Amino acid sequence: MFEQLNSRPADSLLALIKAFQADDRAEKIDLGVGVYRDAMGRTPVMRAVKAAEQFLLENQDSKKYLGPEGDLQFVRLLEPIIFGTSPDFANRLVGIQTPGGSGALRLGAELIQAANPSAKVLLGTPSWPNHAPIFASARLAAKEYSFVDLASQQVKFESVIAALSSAGEGDVVLLHGCYHNPTGIDFTMEQWQEITDLLVAHTLVPFIDLAYQGLGDGLEQDAAPTRMILNAVDEALIAYSCDKNFGLYRERVGALYVMARNSDDLTKAESNMAALARVNWSMPPDHGAAVVRTILESAEMTAMWRAELEEMCQRVNGNRAALAAASADLAFISRQRGLFSNLAMRKETAVALRANHGIYMADSGRMNLAGMQPADAGAIVAALRAEGCL
Ligand code: LMR
Repeated sequence: MFEQLNSRPADSLLALIKAFQADDRAEKIDLGVGVYRDAMGRTPVMRAVKAAEQFLLENQDSKKYLGPEGDLQFVRLLEPIIFGTSPDFANRLVGIQTPGGSGALRLGAELIQAANPSAKVLLGTPSWPNHAPIFASARLAAKEYSFVDLASQQVKFESVIAALSSAGEGDVVLLHGCYHNPTGIDFTMEQWQEITDLLVAHTLVPFIDLAYQGLGDGLEQDAAPTRMILNAVDEALIAYSCDKNFGLYRERVGALYVMARNSDDLTKAESNMAALARVNWSMPPDHGAAVVRTILESAEMTAMWRAELEEMCQRVNGNRAALAAASADLAFISRQRGLFSNLAMRKETAVALRANHGIYMADSGRMNLAGMQPADAGAIVAALRAEGCL
């Protein structure tokens, strides 16, 4: 039967990991996949994660199954970080552990498909390249609209308003909770307020992808748009990832939260989430979630985690400042936050930057600012000039 298959190209973003590893030039720079690198160019296991793993090594006494919901204490301990302490909507919220943020997106998409198969998913483009395929795999129709003008590095807010205003009741709006991937261009709080008003006015369901909390302005500030929306709407989904803010990438740690109108709907949503998890992965992998739980159960480890996250932010912002200082054309990079900024180049240019200069970035022109050192700024700017990007 396999002769019936058509071969499919490797994911272009993930292919950069192998291409970078295979490049033996000492001066190569990895601005590709969204992982953090320290001043030594390493992606370290965070200190709090090491401490939690040590604790688990000594104290975890069983690996028995937990069930399709995974580690519910992990899910609960994340709640105040994401939603704040005692939010008004707390009793309309339920969560389940998922394999990474992608697992949460997929589970959420399948939940929407089960609840309202005719719902359209409004997707501002460009978006994370895996968003559209995840919704398509769940047989949901996506309605794409143009989200940014990369030439001016501005949100096309009139396009966002038009898309939301013309959506049908019950349609789903995919929103990047903070630090837009792949553009680095985010809504202002005034724009978030307008979006919130439109969601309410047109009875739309926000599906918030929150994968970078704590990697820009701080854990509280980064959650502000999510909290604003949840305080206003009746129903919502939140796909959460601990990949970046706990540095747990390959452990695949995430959660899907659903906010429902009332407790009856919440109970139904919860049972469907568990049933969908069961047929997808049966039960999520435990280790990463157990690490996050262990950190959040300990005041000492939590303080250690918060301090290291803060150091990571400062380093990324330092890289942003260095690049902006190296070219006036890149001044916008120091005003953006999170891991990414985007130079909107053609794929051939991204390929030439790799081939001619050993500078790896996504084909879209997305740069992971966490991948460089401040001292790399001159080489990056020179390469961008040589390839006609500046
Ligand atoms: C990224 O956008 O670089 C990361 O989220 C990795 C991925 O899975 O695409």
